[in-house]
Amino acid sequence: MDYFQGKTVWLTGASSGIGLAMAQQLAAAGAQLILTARRAEVLEQVRQQLAQPQHHRVLALDLSQPEQAAAQAQEALGDTQIDILINNAGVSQRSLILDTDLAVYRQLMEIDYFAVVALTKLVLPGMVQRGSGHIVTVSSVAGKVGTKLRSGYNGAKFGVLGFMDSLRAETAHAGLTVTSILPGFINTQVAHNSLTGDGSPLGQADPDNAGGISAEECARRSLQAIAKRKDEVVVGSGLSKLAPFLQRFLPGLVRRMVANR
Ligand SMILES: NC(=O)c1ccc[n+]([C@@H]2O[C@H](COP(=O)([O-])OP(=O)(O)OC[C@H]3O[C@@H](n4cnc5c(N)ncnc54)[C@H](OP(=O)(O)O)[C@@H]3O)[C@@H](O)[C@H]2O)c1
Repeated sequence: MDYFQGKTVWLTGASSGIGLAMAQQLAAAGAQLILTARRAEVLEQVRQQLAQPQHHRVLALDLSQPEQAAAQAQEALGDTQIDILINNAGVSQRSLILDTDLAVYRQLMEIDYFAVVALTKLVLPGMVQRGSGHIVTVSSVAGKVGTKLRSGYNGAKFGVLGFMDSLRAETAHAGLTVTSILPGFINTQVAHNSLTGDGSPLGQADPDNAGGISAEECARRSLQAIAKRKDEVVVGSGLSKLAPFLQRFLPGLVRRMVANR
């Protein structure tokens, strides 16, 4: 994928799952990576195992506090030119609305929505000034179809797609590219790390995600879509891939299906 050769890519959620697989494939494609997640020591291990580790750096941030994270990033990055920002870090949810504290909704919004806005605002002025740059956000099929147990995640992932559409419109004549990735079920730690009603992690796998495509396959298809400068792409298999299309053309059917699941 020539598109990434020599480009500086700031990738969040690089310590696990889809982001880890993206980091490996981007490094192999010749990108210079800035690796972000909370766990600095895991990121450092990831960095050391990438192709040409000396070309990559670790920037540990807690994206549940977007203003603080953005300020730390600004200081650490200085005038580093970011060619591609991939907002991939995210947290899901497994709890009914009746059982979910308001603080959990806020936490999901901080990580899955406000952190995307904050990091985008950090790189956007430089990209607009240069007349080039690419901003990518990993939303979800859950950003198109609301389902049980994910009300806060759905809200954040729907919201971030709206933000990305607006960003694309505002930068359409500024030479920028804006891509939204919508994975279906992918076999990662996402269910294990999902927040329950009191904010504690679920701590166990979920058959839907465990039965999904691999993180490597998801990363491969996502990076292909980014290299082709697509606006939006759904990545997955089976019903989770079909769901956004069914939602668009047969919304009543989808509502019945999700209510009965
Ligand atoms: N797997 C799926 O089925 C699926 C489907 C649709 C969309 N997605 C989306 O894909 C993206 C990647 O998820 P994944 O499946 O790869 O899950 P994952 O294995 O749980 O990885 C999540 C990543 O986000 C980082 N992260 C979580 N909270 C953070 C915080 N407060 N600050 C900074 N980084 C944080 C984690 O790193 P640390 O723990 O080190 O901070 C980790 O690198 C997410 O946006 C998710 O919503 C996944």
